[in-house]
Amino acid sequence: MNFMNIFVAVAVSASVVVGAQDVFASDNGVAFLKEKEGHLACAKKVYSLPGVRFMHKIRPVDAMAEVSVSGLPEGLVWNASRRLVEGVVDIPGEYYYKVNVENGDSTVQETVSLTVSPDLQQPTPFMGWLSWNVVEGDISDEVVRTVADAMVSTGLKDAGYDYLVIDDLWQAKAREEGTGFPSPDSIKFPDGMKAVADYVHSKGLKFGIYSDAGSKTCAGCFGSYGFEEVDAKAYAGWDVDLLKYDYCFVDGADDALSAYTRYKAMGDALKSSGRDILLYMCEWGAREPWKWGAETGATTWRCTYDTRDGWNGTPGGIGIVQSVEGMKDIWPYSGVNRFNDADMMCVGIHGKGKSSNDLVEGAPGMTQTEYRTQFAMWCMWSSPLTLSFDLRKPIAEDDLAIMTNPELIAINQDPMGQQAEFIGEDANGVQLYFKDLANGDVAVAVLNMGDKTQEYIIDFSRIDALDADIPYKVRDLQARTDAGVHEGIMNVDVASHETKVYRLSR
Ligand code: GAL
Repeated sequence: MNFMNIFVAVAVSASVVVGAQDVFASDNGVAFLKEKEGHLACAKKVYSLPGVRFMHKIRPVDAMAEVSVSGLPEGLVWNASRRLVEGVVDIPGEYYYKVNVENGDSTVQETVSLTVSPDLQQPTPFMGWLSWNVVEGDISDEVVRTVADAMVSTGLKDAGYDYLVIDDLWQAKAREEGTGFPSPDSIKFPDGMKAVADYVHSKGLKFGIYSDAGSKTCAGCFGSYGFEEVDAKAYAGWDVDLLKYDYCFVDGADDALSAYTRYKAMGDALKSSGRDILLYMCEWGAREPWKWGAETGATTWRCTYDTRDGWNGTPGGIGIVQSVEGMKDIWPYSGVNRFNDADMMCVGIHGKGKSSNDLVEGAPGMTQTEYRTQFAMWCMWSSPLTLSFDLRKPIAEDDLAIMTNPELIAINQDPMGQQAEFIGEDANGVQLYFKDLANGDVAVAVLNMGDKTQEYIIDFSRIDALDADIPYKVRDLQARTDAGVHEGIMNVDVASHETKVYRLSR
C-alpha cells in the first residue's frame, strides 16, 4: 500500500541521526531546542505523587560543569555525590528549585518545576495493547471486542495491561461535511465509536484512539490539524481515555518548534474537552521530544521509529539494536508522569505481524531470548509496556509468561519512575544498566548485544546506587529465583542477546 511507502520514506530519511535535529534543522527549531535544554541535559519539569519517594538526577550539558541545587521544598535533599535530588514531598503543590551550573568562573542558574499531585495522569508507564503491528486496516468493532475479551481471559488485564488502543485506519473516508466531525468508518464501526468504548470500559479496560498532527494520518486518513477542538470534543464524547498522536503530513512543519506548537494545540484541546485524556506523542523521537513534550500536555513520547520484529533493523528499521541506541542515553529525561516510550513490543508476534515484519535483517521474528530481552529492557527503561501481538488467536504459555512476569512488571511500574541509567558497554558488547527503585532496592541489568556467551563481572563500585562494601540479597528477575548474597562483585553468564536482570536489596 502507498501509505507504507510514504512512511518508510520518512523513516529512512530521518533514521540517519537518532535525536535528529540536524535532519529537521531550521533556525527556529534549533533555537527552540537550545532554549528548552538550557544548561541541563535532564528533565526540568518533573512530577511526584505526594508521600511517594521522589528522585531527580541532575546532569549538565557541559560534562565538565559542577552542579548543585538550592531552594528545595521540605522533604527533599541534594545528594551531591550522586548528583540527584531525593526525598518525599507530602503536600501537593507547585514547587520550584534552582540548579546552579558552574564551570570555572561562570555560574548559571536553571529553574526546575516540580508538580506534586495525587491526580497525575500517568504516575507509572501505561500498559496495554495497540492494534497497529498485526491488525493495521483490519481494525473494526468486532476486532476490538474480541481483543477486549482476550485481554481479560488471558490474564493480561490482571497483569496490568489495561489500555486497548486502536491505531490508524479507523476513520471514515472524510470528515462529516459542515461540522467537520471525525466519524469512524461506518462499515468497520457500524454502531459508532462510543459503543466500542462502552464495551471496552465494561470489561474494566480503558480505550485509546489514534490521530495525527498533520492534514492526514500516516496511513492517509484525515488528520487533526486545524480540527483539534472538534476532535478532542468528539473523543471526550466517546469516552476515550488516551490519544496516540502521530506526525505525518505536516506540510513542512518539520522542526521542533512547529511540532511543539501542534502538539500543544492538541494538548490544550484535550484539557478543555471535559475528559481526562492521556496524550501520547508519536513524532518518533526525531525532534528530541523528551526536552519539550511535557510542556505540551503529553505524558509520554515515542523515542524511536517503529519497532520491527527482529534483532537488527536494516536501514530505517528499528530492531532491538536500534531501540537500545535510541533509548540508552536519554534516561535523565524520564520520570514520573513523563516517560520515554520505546514503541510497541513485538513479543508474541513471531514474524507473523503486518507492519512490524519488514526492515529487519533475516526473516522477521525473534528468539524467545531476544523477546525476553525486549521485555526486560522496556521494563528497565520505564517505557510504556505496549503489546502488539495477535490477540484474536490463542497465545502460547511461554509468550504469556514473558509478558506477565510480575517481578519485571514491578520494575517497570516502580512508583519512583526512574529510567535505568546506562553505565557503559564493554569490548564484548555487554552493556550494564541500573535503576533506583522506590523502596531503596536497585535493579541491575546486563545485556549481551554480542553473538557469544560472555562471563561478566558486575562490579558494584561502578554503580553509584550501590555500596561496594556491604552485602546485598540478590533476586534473578528473569528466572524468578533467589541468586544468593553478594558483596562488591557478582559473576554472571550472559548468553548472546540475553538480558539478565537482578534486584538487589540491602
Ligand atoms: C506511524 C507510527 C506507527 C503507526 C502508524 C500508523 O507513524 O509510528 O506506530 O501508528 O504510523 O499509520
